[in-house]
Amino acid sequence: MSDRASGPLAGRTALVTGAGSGIGAAVARRLAADGATVHAVDIDLDRVHALAEDHPGVSPVQCDLSDLAAVDALPADVDVLVNNAGRQHVSALPDFDPEIFSQILRIMLEAPFRLIRRTLPHMYDGGWGRVINISSAHGLRASPFKSAYVSAKHGLEGLSKVTALEGAAHGVTSNCINPAYVRTPLVEAQITDQARTHGIGEDEVIEKIMLTPVAVKRLIEPDEVAEFAALLYGPASASITGSSLTQDGGWSAR
Ligand SMILES: NC(=O)c1ccc[n+]([C@@H]2O[C@H](COP(=O)([O-])OP(=O)(O)OC[C@H]3O[C@@H](n4cnc5c(N)ncnc54)[C@H](O)[C@@H]3O)[C@@H](O)[C@H]2O)c1
Repeated sequence: MSDRASGPLAGRTALVTGAGSGIGAAVARRLAADGATVHAVDIDLDRVHALAEDHPGVSPVQCDLSDLAAVDALPADVDVLVNNAGRQHVSALPDFDPEIFSQILRIMLEAPFRLIRRTLPHMYDGGWGRVINISSAHGLRASPFKSAYVSAKHGLEGLSKVTALEGAAHGVTSNCINPAYVRTPLVEAQITDQARTHGIGEDEVIEKIMLTPVAVKRLIEPDEVAEFAALLYGPASASITGSSLTQDGGWSAR
């Protein structure tokens, strides 16, 4: 990592959704360390405040991304957009609450669409832009009981590819990163729930449920995802577009 003033993103502005925790916080820290001015957007203002206090260049922005009018009021003069915020809800389809389904689609697909359409004109004007969508192994594969999450991530994959095709002539790339399980609060909550549901220990949930489909038998760390994101705005990134880049410990190799 480099000094902010001489970093690869000095003079650039970034916006990261869900920057208060986990992967979003790691990506926001990395963008700031690389010199960007970072709008750190989250529903939880305290979390992004704490991030901003410790990291020069980060400014906190409170927004509930399920409120699409609020999304349309977010800063639009952005060179690097990271669509990251997400939530999970686990339920069989017949019992799946339609309002929760709709809310998840708003946060994880409609808000990214709104942000992309509003930030592209600035990127086009500058002839350079990077859209990085934090998708998931579930953008490429399904699992039972996660209908809203899997649907939203598959939709995000399509949105990213269309953005890549339209943006190419303007120096704008768009890609998805597709991680398997990353050690964040979102996953830690699932580990606790599954341990209770199955009556087994948390280590056993990680080993026997989460890591069964993956070849690299450990959770991914948020900083590893941030490092991967840095590749997508770094010097090798100009021709990487429309891709879905797996970081899944070999899950999708099967
Ligand atoms: N953790 C994993 O294993 C994993 C794997 C693959 C993909 N992902 C994806 O990575 C992204 C980040 O996940 P994470 O694990 O870091 O989660 P996390 O729960 O640690 O962080 C998510 C952040 O999003 C914010 N958020 C949630 N709803 C919001 C809303 N309505 N408006 C604004 N902010 C909101 C939360 O406050 C939180 O700070 C998600 O899109 C998730 O689907 C995570």
